[in-house]
Amino acid sequence: EPASLAQALGKRLPFGAAVTAAQLRDPAVAAFIAHQFGMLVAENAMKQESLSRGEGRYDFADADAIVDFARQRSMPVRGHALVWHHQAANWMFTDGAGEVSRATLVARLERYIADVVGHFRGRVFAWDVVNEAFQFDEPDAQTDAAGMRMSTWRRIIGPEFIAIAFRAAAKADPDALLFYNDYESQNPKKVAAMRGLVRDLRADGVRIDGIGHQMHCGRVWPKLADVADAIDALAAEGLRQHVTELDIALNDTLTGSAVQAATPELLQAQAQRYAELVNLLLSRRDKVSALLVWGIADAYSWLLGWPQPRFEAPLLFDTRLQPKPAYHAVLAAA
Ligand code: XIL
Repeated sequence: EPASLAQALGKRLPFGAAVTAAQLRDPAVAAFIAHQFGMLVAENAMKQESLSRGEGRYDFADADAIVDFARQRSMPVRGHALVWHHQAANWMFTDGAGEVSRATLVARLERYIADVVGHFRGRVFAWDVVNEAFQFDEPDAQTDAAGMRMSTWRRIIGPEFIAIAFRAAAKADPDALLFYNDYESQNPKKVAAMRGLVRDLRADGVRIDGIGHQMHCGRVWPKLADVADAIDALAAEGLRQHVTELDIALNDTLTGSAVQAATPELLQAQAQRYAELVNLLLSRRDKVSALLVWGIADAYSWLLGWPQPRFEAPLLFDTRLQPKPAYHAVLAAA
């Protein structure tokens, strides 16, 4: 059996993965997960569309299965994500008369967060309270002057939807760490927006504890120096940081490549990139206190279907749950 990455990285950098309840129902896959990962996050099961069945109605079955599995093995659980423009509980946005008022949407969101964070209170140690509220990478996408995405949340409630969400989460579980999570979090524009957000929240007496760096990477993007700068800048705000969704795609959107298969050269380059990134995180382990990969193995990666169906192999284990060069590189870096 390959050595456990969770144990190897151990106390230096708590290491976990995004999982599904279906994976845990398969005994072989469950044993693999329990051996390799020391922290879990639900890939989809704690999103609004998974949990919410209407006002005050919830389906916690899959999320509870993941939390129970983790707790039986003393693995901390991250909660992902309370408010996002994707996979939202779309019933919240309308009623019989059409689009709801600001007051109604605020009340629904507050109730949702109170119920969900309350349900997992003491069992989820950190929440991604708001996911992907800013965006600077798609020039055509609608944003406000601050770079805040014109999501339905932002449009109906205003930029205060973020403060409302953090307040509600803090009230529902005073002990859970509260994170803002985003991709492209090394982009200086996004770093500045996140720092501004944190300062505004704190000036209003709203608690925010950390920043989650999704870290969906390509083989050349982002530059490690930019990642290092972002980590240092955010640490200067007194924030905890987690790398929440790491994967390193063989396809590079920047170069428009369309990789058809995992050649030894590509896997080697990927392995080196994983090692460089883990080394960077280990050099900043006073600032970054968790690392999670977005998927347990290549067969399960979301990138197989995003942005369209395609070949990908972005994780540490292959489609048969066997270690890849990237696994060996991370093990060596640990
Ligand atoms: C993805 C899941 O992996 C997919 O299964 C789902 O279809 C779409 O969402 N950023 C995030 C994650 O914050 O929640 C996304 O997860 C990947 C991008």
